[in-house]
Amino acid sequence: NQVECFHFNLIDSTMNIAKQWKKIYVTEKNSYAFLADQQFKGQGQNNNVWVSPIGNCYVTFLVKFDPLLSYCLPQLSAVSVIETLDLYIPQEKKQISPVLKWINDIFMNEKKISGVLCKVEDEHVSIGIGVNLNHTPAEIAGSTSLKNELGLHYDIDVFEFVQNLWDKLSNNLQKVLQQNSFQAILDKVQDRMMYLNQQVKIYDLTLTKVLNEGIFKGLSEYGNAWLQSLTDPQEIEAIYEGRMRS
Ligand code: BTN
Repeated sequence: NQVECFHFNLIDSTMNIAKQWKKIYVTEKNSYAFLADQQFKGQGQNNNVWVSPIGNCYVTFLVKFDPLLSYCLPQLSAVSVIETLDLYIPQEKKQISPVLKWINDIFMNEKKISGVLCKVEDEHVSIGIGVNLNHTPAEIAGSTSLKNELGLHYDIDVFEFVQNLWDKLSNNLQKVLQQNSFQAILDKVQDRMMYLNQQVKIYDLTLTKVLNEGIFKGLSEYGNAWLQSLTDPQEIEAIYEGRMRS
């Protein structure tokens, strides 16, 4: 599971570098990682900005993958981040283990620690991952960093983190490709879901309108959320998009 890694001090966004690289240099077999110390135009989900100060992990992996399975990439990537963060959490701190907020936000101790942005155009997909390792962006309410949550007095090594992340990510990509199905990792994704079996609301992307309300019963084989009606437990609906809150 070799990956060719390119490191930048300051660039606009690792998503842009991956996109440009893909046009010219990409080869059939290779996987690439584009890593930046800082980004001045970090891209988040829903056209948001991803604030990218020095000290955190900003990486885009460019990998060959089956476009027919691309629906599973956001949650596959998120669970890979969670498995990587797990490596850094000592036994006595397991209560703050990271979880996945549907669809694909990573939370630790009720605060956002990481986000994933996937771009699929053809069989080379870009998986952008931002993880707050050593710096909590003050301008983002409700965010945290790994260093902060663990109460560390030293910085976490970003390169080492990216190496661990690649190990987990490539392993999960492999499993899904081999079985040709998201089922290969669905159980462990579901195990880490926030609000499982709890009453939730589904909002629109701007969090202004409640679209649905019910009990979150888990994930479908395509990563959609099963929502059980509050009035009729027999009635279970699949939710395709939106933002889940308690
Ligand atoms: C989110 O909004 O939750 C997703 C954030 C994704 C951020 C990462 S950082 C590395 C890569 N480069 C970017 O510009 N965005 C992604």
